[in-house]
Amino acid sequence: MKNATLILDKDFAVGRVDPRIYGSFIEHLGRAVYGGIYEPGHPTADADGFRGDVIAKVRELGVPVVRYPGGNFVSAFDWEDSVGPRESRPRRLDLAWGTTETNEVGLHEFARWAAKAGAEVMYAVNLGTRGVDAARSVVEYANHPGGSLWSDRRVRNGAKEPFGIKLWCLGNEMDGPWQLGHKTAREYGRLANEAAMAMKRVDPAIELVACGSSGHDMPTFGSWEYETLDECYDNVDYVSLHRYYGNPTGDTPSFLASAIDLDGFIREVVATCDAVAGKRHAKRRLHLSFDEWNVWYHSNRQDEEVLKAKKWGRALPLLEDVYNFEDALLVGTILTTFLKNADRVKIACLAQLVNVIAPIMTRTGGGCWAQTIFHPMLHASRYGRGTSLRPLVSSPVYECRAYGAVPLVEAAATLGDDGSLTLFAVNRSLADDVALRCDLRAFGPLRPAEHLVLHHDDVKAANTEARPDEVRPARRRAPRLDGGRATVRLPALSWNVVRFLP
Ligand code: AHR
Repeated sequence: MKNATLILDKDFAVGRVDPRIYGSFIEHLGRAVYGGIYEPGHPTADADGFRGDVIAKVRELGVPVVRYPGGNFVSAFDWEDSVGPRESRPRRLDLAWGTTETNEVGLHEFARWAAKAGAEVMYAVNLGTRGVDAARSVVEYANHPGGSLWSDRRVRNGAKEPFGIKLWCLGNEMDGPWQLGHKTAREYGRLANEAAMAMKRVDPAIELVACGSSGHDMPTFGSWEYETLDECYDNVDYVSLHRYYGNPTGDTPSFLASAIDLDGFIREVVATCDAVAGKRHAKRRLHLSFDEWNVWYHSNRQDEEVLKAKKWGRALPLLEDVYNFEDALLVGTILTTFLKNADRVKIACLAQLVNVIAPIMTRTGGGCWAQTIFHPMLHASRYGRGTSLRPLVSSPVYECRAYGAVPLVEAAATLGDDGSLTLFAVNRSLADDVALRCDLRAFGPLRPAEHLVLHHDDVKAANTEARPDEVRPARRRAPRLDGGRATVRLPALSWNVVRFLP
């Protein structure tokens, strides 16, 4: 057993938690849409063809916002294909993923699905093969009440009321050489600025996300943000960050420490945004939209084989990572990192939501189950609301190849508006339980509510349709406070949520 301490005070406030940090992402890719959210004929499908079992799981997760329709897909997507009578919508080659898009599900259908799932739509425009004109037209189509070309077309297509989409992404990963219409930072920054001006003239209430780097390890990282924002700072509200982690060599100690990279990434983007603000004498500060993040590596080889066997297929099983227990621990530390940066990270989208690198899996014609990563996401989304407090943690460290000395305990805390206090903590130790001595004297009397623990003896254990509960949280009693202090036992390799009520 190792010992660690945690001190918390109401005055350690980082900022309000924006619930949109528990967002997610649905791309027209693999079986995310077709066979994921949409499967007419499935026993749980509703009149619109949406799977009821999937909607129930999404609602359970409490996802406030879903980014759509891509991803790489969006950079060659013509949004006009996805509206109007279904029978006249074109089948198109999806040049990003080498499949065929039927456009059976488009803007109207997705807006309807999102409403059923209790989420707001975050819509990405194509700044790859398209530009300013298509961007301003889709805003007019979606948000203008009526009396103009595109808004009247929406009404004719069956939606009298505007969709009222508030959040818009100015393209996707435009720094990536794989992206159709890939640009230099200055080229993209100018285009993003022009598109942003036009889109906000159509609807001044919208909020815009400029593309930051598609990874912390991109060779252009830093200069991309600086040059892009130097062009479009005044007309955008957020800059995006994307990051995926993997453990292909089986180095679990390094893998579990990946949130150290994530935290550095966030801090460097904040610093760059503020440097541009300084240079431009801007008073307004930008916020961060971490609109793609997850573990992604399990399915790489399988994807190559699927595409080799069926290029231009429809609804192919792509990016179907089966997540294991260590992935859930990493996801937990990513969520605590977002909470600790709640003053600047206002949106985050777990990429993705269903079947494609997702917490929710389905079998076409069959069941729907929660992957391991579903659990920390659900806990954070449910209890990580209110004000984020930064705990002072003193923890023993372990050595790992990628990051050197890393604390065993990673923690964050939230103070709910009802006075409830929630501690989130991961014990990264492979071998030792940790006794975490918590000093909560600043909060006055608190009643222990519960201690949720996610642990499995096998880091590679996963949930499947046959064994959906192989990795699932256990509920324990939370410790009693004694003079404002309590000791929580964090089992070796565990995700913990400890809740106290006022
Ligand atoms: O989420 C999968 C893909 O990852 C997205 O399409 C792209 O934006 C990123 O590279």
